[in-house]
Parts: sequence; C-alpha cells; structure tokens
Amino acid sequence: MTRAIELHDVSKSYTRGTRVVDGLSLDIAPGEFLVLLGPSGCGKSTVLRMIAGLEDIDEGELLLDGEYANHWQPSERGMAMVFQNFALYPNMTGRDNIGFPLRIEDPGADPAPRVGATARMLGIEDLLDRFPSQLSGGERQRVAMGRAIARHPSAFLMDEPLSNLDAKLRNHLRAEISRLTRELGVTTVYVTHDQAEAMSLGDRVAVLRGGVLQQVGTPRQVYALPRNVFTAAFIGTPRINLLRGLVRAPLDGAMTISLGKQALRLPEPLCLDHQLLRVQQGREVIVGLRSEAVRIARHSSARAGEAAITGLVEHVEFQGHEILVHFDTGSRPAVVPDLEAPRPAARPARRRRREGPTVLDRLRERAGSRRAGPVVVLEHPGDTGPEPAPPEGRLPGDLVVRTTPDLRLHHGMQVPLLVDLAHLFVFDQQGDRICPSPDRLPDLDE
Ligand SMILES: Nc1ncnc2c1ncn2[C@@H]1O[C@H](COP(=O)(O)OP(=O)(O)O)[C@@H](O)[C@H]1O
Ligand SMILES: [Mg+2]
Repeated sequence: MTRAIELHDVSKSYTRGTRVVDGLSLDIAPGEFLVLLGPSGCGKSTVLRMIAGLEDIDEGELLLDGEYANHWQPSERGMAMVFQNFALYPNMTGRDNIGFPLRIEDPGADPAPRVGATARMLGIEDLLDRFPSQLSGGERQRVAMGRAIARHPSAFLMDEPLSNLDAKLRNHLRAEISRLTRELGVTTVYVTHDQAEAMSLGDRVAVLRGGVLQQVGTPRQVYALPRNVFTAAFIGTPRINLLRGLVRAPLDGAMTISLGKQALRLPEPLCLDHQLLRVQQGREVIVGLRSEAVRIARHSSARAGEAAITGLVEHVEFQGHEILVHFDTGSRPAVVPDLEAPRPAARPARRRRREGPTVLDRLRERAGSRRAGPVVVLEHPGDTGPEPAPPEGRLPGDLVVRTTPDLRLHHGMQVPLLVDLAHLFVFDQQGDRICPSPDRLPDLDE
C-alpha cells in the first residue's frame, strides 16, 4: 500500500510567535517522489516529523489517504524514516538491525525471508553479519535503507540521508534510492538542502524558505519558471546572475533595461512578455540571467533576439570540462539574504542621518515576509555611487558566464558578450517574477 499525503495550511511554532512552518499546503500523490528543498533551518525536518507523527501540528490538517490524521500515532501511519546519521543499533548485526522492527511489528513471524529479500535487493547480503562499527558510512546507510524497506512501509520519509557521505558515494546511493523507490512505487518525501540532489531525484520539488512554501513543481518547471528570486537563485549552478536594472520605455524609442553603465536593448518587435514590462517604466527591477543566456562572441555575430554588452574579465575559474568567467559589466548585483551575507552598507553616514524608516525597512515591510525577512535586498534604490567590496565568499565581478575550456581568457581583458533575451528573467523589487509573465504556464511537455 502506498499513501497519498496532504498538508492543508499547516503551521508549527516551537516558541510562541515564531512559526517555523507557516501555512504549508502540499498534495503528495501515491507513489510520488517529492523533495522538500531549502536552506538549513527553513523547517524541512519539522515538516517531515509532522508527517511522521513525531511532532504535533499546531494548525492545519494532515490527511493520509484522505483521512484526517493529525492525531494518529506514528505506528498507525506505517511510514519508515531514514535519517542523516544512519541511526543503527550498535550492538546488533546488520541482519538484526533490519529484522528488529519486523519482530516488533509481528512477534510471531520469522523476519528472515523479508530480511533476505531486502538484502538481495540492496546487494548487501555480505554485510548482514557485521556490526555497524565494522561498516563504512555508505554501508551503514544501505543497512538503514534496508531496515526501512523491509517493513514494506506506506511511505518513506528521508531526512538528508546522504549528507554524511562523500561525494562519490552520494551520487551512487542517490541513483540507488531513485531506482529502489520507483521499483517499490512507495510515496517518498525526501528532505535535502542540496539543490542538485533535489533536481536529480524529485518527481516534484517543493522549495521552502523560512517555513514558507515558495514554489512546488517538477525540476524543469522550477528551473525554467522560478516564481521568485529566491527559487531562481537557489536552483541551478552556477547561480543565476541577478543584476539591478532600471526599465526605460520611451514612447518614441527602443525599450531598454539599464544595468548601470550598460543597457540591454529589448529586441523589436517586442514579444508579449517584454511588452508587459512597459508598465515598469522608470522602476528598478532585478534582471536574472542564467549563465546559458550569455555567450562570449563578437557583436557582429549577434542573432535575432540577442543584445550586445561588454565585460571586463575579473576572474577565471577553470573546471576542466568548462570555464566559468566572472565579468565586471558595471552593474550591481542584487543580494539574496538567505543565500549570502548582505553587502556592507554603501553609505552608512547618509543612512544614519535619515529619519524614520529606511528604504530597506520599507522594502522589508512591503515584501510581507514573516520570519524570514525580504527575499531580496536592493540596498539603496536609485543610488548610483561606486559599489562597495563584494560580500564575503563571493568572487569579484557581477556576471558569470560559462564557456568551453579552449578559450584563453585572462584578467583584465575586455570581452564582447551577447545576451539571449528569450531567456531573460525580470523580478520586481519584492523579488516576484514579472517576466516571463507570472501567469505563464509551463508549456514544457512532461
Ligand atoms: N525542538 C525544537 N525546539 C525549538 N526549536 C526548534 C526545534 N526543532 C527545530 N527548531 C527550530 O526550527 C527551525 C526549523 O528547524 P528544522 O525543521 O530542523 O529545519 P531544517 O531541517 O530545514 O534545517 C530552526 O530554526 C530550528 O532551530
Ligand atoms: Mg533538518
């Protein structure tokens, strides 16, 4: 049996006034593999524990196969959890670790056949007589998976099960989990902070931030049509470039988005999504360009729909199969607070003198964000002064472009760039996507 899991407007606080999960609604279909993705502390484990019955639900409803289940005992839910720290009994062999829950469930039955079948499925027959201390991390996690599988649960709940393993093993076990859960057809809710893991495993990915659901969709949908700056920035490597821009839509000339020292000229005739940007005339926006939207090429080779800019090479990251080039284009990056340290205030003296709420305060307020603060910060809209040093941990430059490893680039070169405006994202000051239009339905066949 596999379960449908529904959460309706579920909230949870550990201390009064601070919701760590805030109005979460999710419909998880029987047999679906759903990934809960978000940065550390955003409430992923809490959601999983509420589904398991290990944590009370303060507000809202949990339905299992359509039945109100908020108060069901964990054992009644028939779900199996797999944790990051493997959680095996140290004084039991692999065989007993897998068989123990079966004995508890049905003391009269012999667990051996089910243990044997599970071990064959996982290829761990030779580990059954060893104790956890005699197993490597990957082997322990396989035994822990075996314990979950042998119970024939109605759902798997996995909480960062691969986080403690090295990269190679993680990829290997990731593929194994994907194969096994699909073979078994059991509903799986999988928690991770690793977007690459989420994208490769999930039928759908639910992006959480500060306890609030940002978006849920297939990996393709959340990548191609992120609802806001947070999802856009959290998903995909290298990180999407987010630049502060200003929309200029004169009645008698070409529409452009100014990026500070340069501008993107929108190709005519304007497509529908670009026409809709007209109402932003004179407003500051956030331009999102994934690295595949920009190429290094002579301006004379521009194709229809491409806009020409130039970039100064600041840093070259050689990766073997490709190069990531960090350019300075004279524009200013927008800061996504959950994902990086905010920039130092550009002009503290001026801001301190100001009476009442600062621009930043007003933005925070308008963003309507609860615990987590604003999705994105534009420190000082309209400020055109020189940029302070980049935040800690961020490389210099404002635009990262991918290129083939044979291209010889070095620091200080002026390089022509072409931006494919069919792949342009524009977000408003609250960080919500306005281009492509928010009503646009994913026309990706899936
Ligand atoms: N038992 C608890 N008591 C108090 N606060 C908690 C408890 N468990 C988690 N929290 C807090 O709730 C928030 C969400 O935690 P958690 O669900 O573990 O996040 P995640 O799994 O996404 O890292 C965090 O701020 C965490 O400190
Ligand atoms: Mg957690």
